[in-house]
Amino acid sequence: MHGPPLAQMAGDPDSRRPREETNVTRDTPRPFPQLQHAAHREFDSWMDARHLEATLDKVRPFVMPPVSVEALVDLANVALMVLACDIPGDFVECGVWRGGTGFLMAEILRGAGVRDRKVWLLDSFEGMPPVEAIDGPRAIADANDPTNPLSRDMSKAPLEDVQRTAMELGLAGHSEFVKGWFDQTLRATRDRIGPIAVLHVDCDWHASVRCCLDNLYDQVVEGGFVILDDYYGYDGCAIAVHEFLAERRLAHRIESVVGNWGGCDHNVAARFRKGKANWQWEYRLHLAREDIATVIPPGEPFILVDDGVFGDEIAAGRRATPFLERDGRYWGRPPDGATAVHEVERARQSGQSFMVFTWPAFWWLDAYPRLQRYLVAGFRCVLQNDRVVVFDLRA
Ligand SMILES: C[S@@+](CC[C@H](N)C(=O)[O-])C[C@H]1O[C@@H](n2cnc3c(N)ncnc32)[C@H](O)[C@@H]1O
Repeated sequence: MHGPPLAQMAGDPDSRRPREETNVTRDTPRPFPQLQHAAHREFDSWMDARHLEATLDKVRPFVMPPVSVEALVDLANVALMVLACDIPGDFVECGVWRGGTGFLMAEILRGAGVRDRKVWLLDSFEGMPPVEAIDGPRAIADANDPTNPLSRDMSKAPLEDVQRTAMELGLAGHSEFVKGWFDQTLRATRDRIGPIAVLHVDCDWHASVRCCLDNLYDQVVEGGFVILDDYYGYDGCAIAVHEFLAERRLAHRIESVVGNWGGCDHNVAARFRKGKANWQWEYRLHLAREDIATVIPPGEPFILVDDGVFGDEIAAGRRATPFLERDGRYWGRPPDGATAVHEVERARQSGQSFMVFTWPAFWWLDAYPRLQRYLVAGFRCVLQNDRVVVFDLRA
């Protein structure tokens, strides 16, 4: 992602100046860069398997084979995005087996020092329920193969063993176990679970997946994630997802998690998000809000240049005026640079003290060179990154 055009302008005095150090308090060091303060964060904070090596190594022995590293990495990143964007709610694992992916989420919480969330680990702890015709031929073959981890005996992982592992890994404080068949436990437990930020559905068969969605979807918060580990693996899981979305008339788009086997891409899991924007957009928006809060004192009015994209989503209750503005509303793009400059002057006279360009409107700085020259020559650029450019108009 390239920065705004401002820095490339020849003779731009602000681009030669060292970047303004923002006044940021540093928390105790955290192992995940997503959780640093916005001013120190890059936008592209997606962590790959190398960055997560220690975390993955810790939980990998407890993940049911075949292990998809890409699915683990995706789950870890989703959990981190939830923390980075302050999406409220606990993490829920439906289908625990020996603990693998549930422990992965717990380890993220532990590593990030989060104490006010936990992972709910729900399982029969008696293995898989019987497979059904709707689950498809592959599921039936796997369930009936005594060497397959999903066979009746191999899929058993006693609760006491999994709890002991949680203790040994130092994750007991982040884990809450619920033993029983989903059709008996979910309805009874869901009030205790409360808001859900990540619902990881890893229970393979149609009836189990459907039961999880029916009982827990409503508790997934706006912006939260539903991850469907077996969407590509078993027909029954995919059917359950589509049935549920269709019956509820939900328009969530399914996003695929792509892995690679021997140089060939293939789908390893799926997820959808309960929210308007995808998480990259949401994360960037979140960082931009923090950027604005870092440099503009609370209560200080500012001009928001967003090409009509965000409005209050980015202003978040602050005193932002759209640009161009008529009667307090966004009025469209200026016809030319002279009008843009005239409008900034008008806004300054009416008390606006900062001007914030957000990334969807960075192109304005190229499209209106007169506006750019006016701002650069007359005002201090107090923050410039790939999300926002902020000018202090109180010259
Ligand atoms: C594929 S394993 C889970 C793998 C695990 N997430 C991991 O990281 O290795 C599926 C689990 O779902 C549980 N399960 C499936 N259907 C269930 C149901 N209806 N009620 C309770 N547990 C169920 C099984 O007991 C099994 O432990």
